[in-house]
Parts: sequence; C-alpha cells; structure tokens
Amino acid sequence: MLVVAGRIAAVGPALAAPQGVPVVDAKGWLLAPPFVDAHFHLDATLSAGLPRVNESGTLLEGIALWGELKPLLVQDAIVERALRYCDWAVAKGLLAIRSHVDICDDRLLAVEALLHVRERVAPYLDLQLVAFPQDGLLRSPHALANLERALDLGVDVVGGIPHFERTMADGAASVRILCEIAAKRGLRVDMHCDESDDPLSRHIETLACETQRLGLQGRVTGSHLTSMHSMDNYYVSKLLPLMREAQVHAVANPLINITLQGRHDSYPKRRGMTRVPELMAAGINVGFGHDCVMDPWYPLGSADMLEVAQMGLHVAQMTSQAQMRACFDAVTVNSARILGLEGYGLEPGCRADFVLLQARDTVEAIRLRATRLLVVRGGDVMAHTPPANATLALPGRPPEVDFTAQR
Ligand code: FE2
Repeated sequence: MLVVAGRIAAVGPALAAPQGVPVVDAKGWLLAPPFVDAHFHLDATLSAGLPRVNESGTLLEGIALWGELKPLLVQDAIVERALRYCDWAVAKGLLAIRSHVDICDDRLLAVEALLHVRERVAPYLDLQLVAFPQDGLLRSPHALANLERALDLGVDVVGGIPHFERTMADGAASVRILCEIAAKRGLRVDMHCDESDDPLSRHIETLACETQRLGLQGRVTGSHLTSMHSMDNYYVSKLLPLMREAQVHAVANPLINITLQGRHDSYPKRRGMTRVPELMAAGINVGFGHDCVMDPWYPLGSADMLEVAQMGLHVAQMTSQAQMRACFDAVTVNSARILGLEGYGLEPGCRADFVLLQARDTVEAIRLRATRLLVVRGGDVMAHTPPANATLALPGRPPEVDFTAQR
C-alpha cells in the first residue's frame, strides 16, 4: 500500500516507495480498516462507582444511578474522562465513535463537554454525537426543548428512547416527533429502540414506517432492538422486510445486552441480544457497539472492539467462517456505513487510516483479540504495541510462545 498526503494512493504487490517515504514491513500480518464503534456513551464512561456502584446490575438501576450522578457532574471531569477513553480507543485502533449524549440535564453540561472533546480529538478520532433524551422525550419536562438546543449547538444526530416513554402510544409519538426533527434539519437518526425483554415493544416498526414516510432511508438506526429476541417468529417475519425496505440500520450491543437482559427471568434466561444473523440474512446492515465502559450500567471494558465482536459471535452463535468474518465487519465496515464515514476503507482514494493486527485473518483477530501492532491515521502512526508473545521456561520446549496458528 502506498500512502500519499494522508490518502491511500495505491494498493498492490511490490509498490515502489518514492524517495524519502518511510517503508513499513507488515511481515504478513493483517492490515484492517480501523475499528468503528456505532454505539457508545462517552458522557458516562469511566464513572463507575460514582456516586455508588450498581448493586443489582440492571438497566433500570443503571438509569436511576445515572440520575443520581447527573446533578453532581462537573464539565472538566466529563472532558477528562472522555479524553482518557479516547486515548484507550486510539491505542486499540478504534478511530471512530458514535456517542449518545444525555440532553435531559437543563444545563447541557455533558453536551458542551462532548462538543469540546469532539473538537479536541478531531485530529485523531471521528466523534459523532447523538442528542439522547435518556429520561424520555415526552416523559422528561424539558427534553424536547433541550434536544433542539443541543442540535443548535452542533450535535450531529437525533436520538430517542421510545420504550422508556410512559405508554406505547407516547413511545410511537416520540418516534414521529424525532424523525420529523431529523428530516427538517437534514440529520441522521439513532434511537435506543425496544431495549426491553417485552416482546410487545415494537417501536422499531414505527421507526421503519417513519423512515419511509419522511424519506430518511439509509439514515436511520435502531439501536439495541433487544425485544426482537423475545418476539413472536411470525411477527419478526413481517418486521424484517419492513426494516429492509426502509434501509434501517441495526446496532446490537453484545457485551451490555448479555449482561442486562433477561434479568426478570428465572431459568431458562433469555440472552436478549437482537436477532443478528437473521437481520443480516434479511439484507439489513448490522453494526456492533460497545455501549458502555466502566459506567453505571457496566463495570468492565477497555475500548476493545474485538472483545465486542467476540461476545457478539458467541451470543449469536455465529460460528461458521462466513459468520465469524461478518462479526469482524460489524465492528468495522458495517458500523462505518451507519456513521456515514467519508473515505473509510482500504481502497485507493480512501483516508490512510488503518490498523496492523497481530493475526493472519479476521477470524484469528477475533480469537486472539489481536494486538494492535500499529494504528495509523491519515498516514501517521498514532499508536503502537509490541507483539504479544510469551516466553516459556519449560525443558525441551521452544522458549517463545506465539498464539497465532502455524505461519
Ligand atoms: Fe446505549
């Protein structure tokens, strides 16, 4: 691959490097486009334990805990935590994040903080912000006005949470209102949609319908969609073509939903993740998101999208070779489509953003959560990590352990 002025100029074997251009020997390792996180909450990240830990581990205690933390938030601390997370992201080859930002706090502290962070990280990370009415667009008194204010300030995408409104009817009304705002402003939509085990939570149907009505095809995403796990199969056979027709994207958040869903079940416990292989088979673009890292909802995580892909693969039982490769796509190209990233990919003309992974192929990358040997943005190295080999002290065995398959 030849890089000129931050773009990929040519791809092929034995390309001649112009004089003075440094040459990197990839030694046969996998060169991939950067990881993309289609769904995250940067305003809450790294706040785990503030003001207390989530004892039950449920979504609803997480929302209540976030409500306790909100009045205590300080802008500088949000900025500091978000920047720290972005450092982790770059080190892990994650160079684009779509983050929801809660707009229900009338001070819009988190909005201002993340707009500042978006500007700070722009040289090395694409941060897209979603105006997210965490407490409900119609349920929270100033959410609608705050959402419009956040969009006026420059937030990129319209969010929503229809299943958290007081009634199904209010949920559907919120979807209509939010899609109309997006259509009027020429913005994309990404809603937390049906993040519930209730099989009758069907706001995705309204979202697909509004997408069609307002001509928003290809610009709308339904995030989580966990009720689909519990829906009647016949209804899903009607729903998937509606989503396909409206070109609605889907985002599953495997780490979080395997943790949060099914909490009211005894045994058997539902997994709760949306129907990823079925959505993909129906021709619907599916991305995976990390959703949370060390916040009121999830105490773990490290900005590693290969961990997300690995959990998605397991929960969805996507173990064929093609399905495992599809899980890698879900944290790269599919999510890039959801964000509408310009110049993403490894073809000539694309931005010279890529990751060199210590793996031979994408399946091995997921298996090993491969080391990011090099992370490159616009042709410049942003991070590097030494190969993850172990040294053994066993008699009669080779001293170095290489976890990749035979090369
Ligand atoms: Fe979320």
